[in-house]
Amino acid sequence: MLTENERSLQFGTKLIHAKTDIGEHYGAVSVPIYQVSTFHQDVEETNRYDYSRSGNPTREALEQTVAQLEGGNAGFAFSTGMAAISSVLCLFQSGDEIIVSHDIYGGTYRVLTQLFSKFGIKTVFVDTTKVEEIEKAVTSQTKALYIESPSNPFLNVTDIRKASEAAKKHGLITIVDNTFMTPYLQQPLALGADIVIHSATKYIGGHSDVVAGVVITSSEALAKEVKFVQNAFGAVLGPQDSWLLLRGLKTLKVRLAQQQQTAEKLAYWLKNHPLVEKVYYPGLTEHPHHELSKRQASGFGAIISFKVKDEQLAHHFLKTVTLPAVGVSLGGVESILTHPATMSHASIPKEAREEIGITGSLLRLSVGLEEAEDLQEDFAHALESGLLSNTVLK
Ligand SMILES: Cc1ncc(COP(=O)(O)O)c(C=O)c1O
Repeated sequence: MLTENERSLQFGTKLIHAKTDIGEHYGAVSVPIYQVSTFHQDVEETNRYDYSRSGNPTREALEQTVAQLEGGNAGFAFSTGMAAISSVLCLFQSGDEIIVSHDIYGGTYRVLTQLFSKFGIKTVFVDTTKVEEIEKAVTSQTKALYIESPSNPFLNVTDIRKASEAAKKHGLITIVDNTFMTPYLQQPLALGADIVIHSATKYIGGHSDVVAGVVITSSEALAKEVKFVQNAFGAVLGPQDSWLLLRGLKTLKVRLAQQQQTAEKLAYWLKNHPLVEKVYYPGLTEHPHHELSKRQASGFGAIISFKVKDEQLAHHFLKTVTLPAVGVSLGGVESILTHPATMSHASIPKEAREEIGITGSLLRLSVGLEEAEDLQEDFAHALESGLLSNTVLK
């Protein structure tokens, strides 16, 4: 239980001093890694730990930490973000329907449409930025609303408060994938959501060296259900990786604050570049959800999507940039440049992808900790050398 004083600590302080009851022996300031699978048990007593799938002290320190950061009542750590998502989807049963944001991470789309569909769980994709669309999609079978906000890759912002109010009215639980914002910038439970999910591979880890997922619940009842699935399904995070996340978390605020500052500069620069057709970043005043984003989050994050003139230029850009890693993932200390059509969203069929605007000319940039001027220079060269190359503009 947190004391009043601990509850009122500011976010940056909580990152360093989140209250866990693990590792108090010897005064170690970093939680020890309990690299252990099983624990000695006293036959006549219930021990706190018996087997690391059911509970491990290092993992529990992480789980207690993320619960406090998101303002939830319990946290759970999984082996990947997809394991976290799939474990939450295990709360549902055949015949249940889930309303899901239509532009979500490709892996979430895949697991819903190709795996959970096999078990009779139906997904209805809607534009969750329009609350009336959510209401229209509700049937007597609907059990949950699943939101990604800002969405991936178009950074559309759903009004989490209004959406979860609508969901509650119909008896649905609201699940929010908060990967892009992190609890530093957005706390969905305080806005009315019931469950928060993260691909902790991204900003929570922050260093592109671990794959992990976390789930945070708002109530004892949901915590009990998720705990059951975590233990029964068994996709838990190991102690070493739990420790890496605990370490990464300590610098979440300073990392993201800096990355966001650079992202804002680059978004405006890209917007004014003649070879860039459109920039998607909620921090731009013309972004359709700029005001909403300002109200429900304390920042706009550090992910920018943009469309260049054509697909050939996108390919040239990907081949020519020197600073960002080109590939999937985001939220690392290094910038990461993704081509959603062939990478993060390749698992969405071409037609469905193009219907939501994921064309070959779209790029997604996760802004890292490099200096803004260096990134800008690198991007300028990669774009403008495209002009000189016959392969790009004829
Ligand atoms: C928003 C979002 N949610 C979930 C996932 C899945 O997480 P993981 O790759 O850790 O399984 C990703 C991965 O890119 C993501 O971007």
